[in-house]
Amino acid sequence: MSIELEQKTEAQNNLADRLTFPPAVEALLIQAFSLCICGVGILFAYLVFAKIISLLFFLVAHALIAACISYRRKMDWWWWIIQFLFPIAAFLLLTLDVPRHYYLAVFVVMALLFWSTFRTQVPYYPSRASLPSLIHDFLPDKSLKFVDLGSGLGGLVLNLSLRRGDSVFWGVEIAPLPWLLSYIRSKFHPANARFFLKNYDNINLGDFDVVFAYLSPAAMPALWNKVASEMRPGSLFLSYEFIVPDVEPDLCINTDSGDPILYIWRI
Ligand SMILES: C[S@@+](CC[C@H](N)C(=O)[O-])C[C@H]1O[C@@H](n2cnc3c(N)ncnc32)[C@H](O)[C@@H]1O
Repeated sequence: MSIELEQKTEAQNNLADRLTFPPAVEALLIQAFSLCICGVGILFAYLVFAKIISLLFFLVAHALIAACISYRRKMDWWWWIIQFLFPIAAFLLLTLDVPRHYYLAVFVVMALLFWSTFRTQVPYYPSRASLPSLIHDFLPDKSLKFVDLGSGLGGLVLNLSLRRGDSVFWGVEIAPLPWLLSYIRSKFHPANARFFLKNYDNINLGDFDVVFAYLSPAAMPALWNKVASEMRPGSLFLSYEFIVPDVEPDLCINTDSGDPILYIWRI
């Protein structure tokens, strides 16, 4: 019991550390801190030893320090790589002398595509082409209301709506660009597919018979709380690839093709 308690306290401390900032802000602060350390190092080498540090050494030191701090801060492994590559990529881009408005254009497209990913920790990436058939084969054989939380470009909702004319399929998406594209696509499809530009936190899951999510590990605990408090008995919660920590699913659908698992909870 005491070991469990200690483990829990340590986990809570780690969580408290990690929750101080969203990862993207934390990563930016680490970059700034590493830059300062390297700047002080250069100044020290020059003033004390009259040595001029080469640019290459400075860049590699900056990249390494940023990656090591990210590791020490227990950021996810992909941040270590991003943190290492970022200063080098930034330097290379500066040497290419790219016109400034290109940066602005890329920034605007990225912002519309990824929107509040820095807060939700759920970026856009599409599910596999095999997913609609997997879900379709499993759907109860009666008229139902289905929602895809974070519907991206809308492929899943549109595909299912074509196969199941007796049911209603909703997509809820927080990022403007994917939502706009799914909305336009829905105009060329039957009316039983609808897309909403919304945060799924602001919809009532009790309105649906089947709730589907393909999000990220970071989103699952809070989403499960919402599922448990809002969904009706007899409804289904489906999560592609990401399991809810400590909540055993009723069913795991695994294909032989190496695609991610579809987890299913009967409420
Ligand atoms: C991994 S993609 C999945 C896309 C789509 N469901 C599919 O299967 O291809 C996750 C999507 O969820 C969206 N998202 C993340 N948090 C959200 C939120 N709180 N409310 C609505 N959408 C959200 C992201 O913008 C992203 O487009």
